[in-house]
Amino acid sequence: MIVRKTAAELEKMRRSGLLVFQILQKLREMAADGVSTMDLEVAAAEMIAGAGAKPAFKGYYVPAAGQAYKFVLCTSVNDEIVHGMPNPKRILKKGDIVSIDTGVKLDGYYGDSAITVPIGAIDEQTEKLLRVTKEALELAIDRVRNGNRLFDVSGTVEEHVTSNGFSVVREYVGHGIGTQLHEEPQVPNYVDRRNENPRLKPGMVLAVEPMVNAGRPEAVVRRDRWTAVTKDGSCSAHFEHCVAVTENGPWVLTRP
Ligand code: MF3
Ligand code: CO
Repeated sequence: MIVRKTAAELEKMRRSGLLVFQILQKLREMAADGVSTMDLEVAAAEMIAGAGAKPAFKGYYVPAAGQAYKFVLCTSVNDEIVHGMPNPKRILKKGDIVSIDTGVKLDGYYGDSAITVPIGAIDEQTEKLLRVTKEALELAIDRVRNGNRLFDVSGTVEEHVTSNGFSVVREYVGHGIGTQLHEEPQVPNYVDRRNENPRLKPGMVLAVEPMVNAGRPEAVVRRDRWTAVTKDGSCSAHFEHCVAVTENGPWVLTRP
């Protein structure tokens, strides 16, 4: 069942969304050559606590990993797709890209967003990877409209990514969000005709999160049981926003 939120609930989700936005803005400024992914974690944890919020990821049980996640951020560098873990030994350096993904719960409602940040100058192909992934998210956001269907959103990401020569990760998907971090429906970044294709209605909120590989689409999980990396070692980018369906079009909750 896809839960539809009232206007008052959407206002609460808006507050979570804006907190996540502020955190990511701060981390975007911090992320630089010589900074560790754990430095980012510490700053984010302070901001979440300071705002009286709860981290969405820390303590979240993931069956595939067989344990609860231990950090407020996922920091996924270069060929890491998602669920990279903050580590004081992982020092960002020029030419890297780092996906920073975080979520919070405020007043019972979740917000979840991710950005991929370049460290100094990056090569041209990787620039294009970031640009195309961001564009795919923006095009998909514009499809989050009353009367459209889920496949309109998924298919828009897939089409933009593949027509630019990149590939969409299939093992990880976006999701509904509200009083739970992960609600129905799943939001794949490709059209999966075996899945349902619900019509979008006002009050639905989708976390749309394209994960895009420069090379082949396959993902493998490292022996740490969390970090998903590209099988071929190519770079991967990830951007995410929470988007509400309203009578007046898409409302991106995770940016001003
Ligand atoms: N943004 C991701 C998601 O929505 C991050 C989840 S990390 C986890 O699934 F540890 F909490 F699972
Ligand atoms: Co998410």
